[in-house]
Amino acid sequence: MKAVVVTDQAVGTAGMTLVERPEPNAAGNDVVVQVHASGFTPGELTWPGTWTDRLGRDRTPSIPGHELAGVVSALGYGTTGLSVGQRVFGLTDWTRDGTLAEYVAVEARNLAPLPGDVDFTVGASLPISGLTAWQGLFVHGRIQVGQSVLVHGAAGGVGSMVTQLAREAGAYVIGTGRAADRQTALDFGAQEFVDLENDALEDVGGVDLVFDVIGGDIGKRSAGVIRAGGTLVTIAGPAEARPANGRAIDFVVEADRAQLGEIVRRVRDGRLLTNIGNVATLDDAVAAFNPTERIKGKTIIRVRP
Ligand SMILES: NC(=O)c1ccc[n+]([C@@H]2O[C@H](COP(=O)([O-])OP(=O)(O)OC[C@H]3O[C@@H](n4cnc5c(N)ncnc54)[C@H](OP(=O)(O)O)[C@@H]3O)[C@@H](O)[C@H]2O)c1
Repeated sequence: MKAVVVTDQAVGTAGMTLVERPEPNAAGNDVVVQVHASGFTPGELTWPGTWTDRLGRDRTPSIPGHELAGVVSALGYGTTGLSVGQRVFGLTDWTRDGTLAEYVAVEARNLAPLPGDVDFTVGASLPISGLTAWQGLFVHGRIQVGQSVLVHGAAGGVGSMVTQLAREAGAYVIGTGRAADRQTALDFGAQEFVDLENDALEDVGGVDLVFDVIGGDIGKRSAGVIRAGGTLVTIAGPAEARPANGRAIDFVVEADRAQLGEIVRRVRDGRLLTNIGNVATLDDAVAAFNPTERIKGKTIIRVRP
């Protein structure tokens, strides 16, 4: 089968190549999915699971991309809950070969049914950004009606989902990002926007929760805009500062069938808009992940036309 592989962490996406790889077999509790569309998150080439297995053994060349939408083509021994021919979407294990390929083996529990009226391209854009937003806001952030949330990178893949889900949950949302992202963040539902290039983050009053997707200096300064007892949720690595008398939580997104169901339900009824900036074929995937100009939103690879 055709697949994109990486072998050298130092060169990032520039090291991606399109090659022939053997088709995967379904182990116990796995399904093999014929991938129709695949997503990739920019940080994954820096995560250990891309390069080594759970025992720390080199597993290169590895296939990146861990979001997928496709059709089940085989079941492993003991696999229940899904059937051959079923449309599915989900998030695959970070320490196994991923979804920038024609087929992928994945544990059945990491997938959810994809309704027939949701396009594969849309399905592949939801797992990482949708689950990360859901888990950060509701599981780790414990957001409540009437609370205020500062969402960094509100025009991006994760931030646009956080903005919409926080609004639906009854929060007041302040989005941040680059100057050019203002209107996009407002269109996704942010009630205010802080331009991180020109405005002072410190002018934001005490918020209940910051959802940080950027980290570094922005992450550190964010702790100071959280009211006493508030929460800093970050997906950009361990928080370097914590709010006064508050909580700082960093987490890595996990697959969850029930949460995937909640997310796709909202997409179907129009409550949640996905944020796709570019769609390319698998043959063009390497170029698509090494763009010559800035892409707003997620890049999705349409593996089968
Ligand atoms: N821990 C986890 O489980 C987890 C899960 C998902 C994602 N992540 C990581 O979280 C990060 C965000 O993911 P994503 O899919 O939302 O990426 P994305 O679509 O690129 O969104 C990030 C947004 O933040 C903006 N931004 C970044 N740095 C900025 C700065 N210094 N000032 C102003 N705006 C800035 C980006 O603008 P530009 O495009 O102009 O830079 C973009 O609009 C990635 O590093 C990803 O790997 C972690």
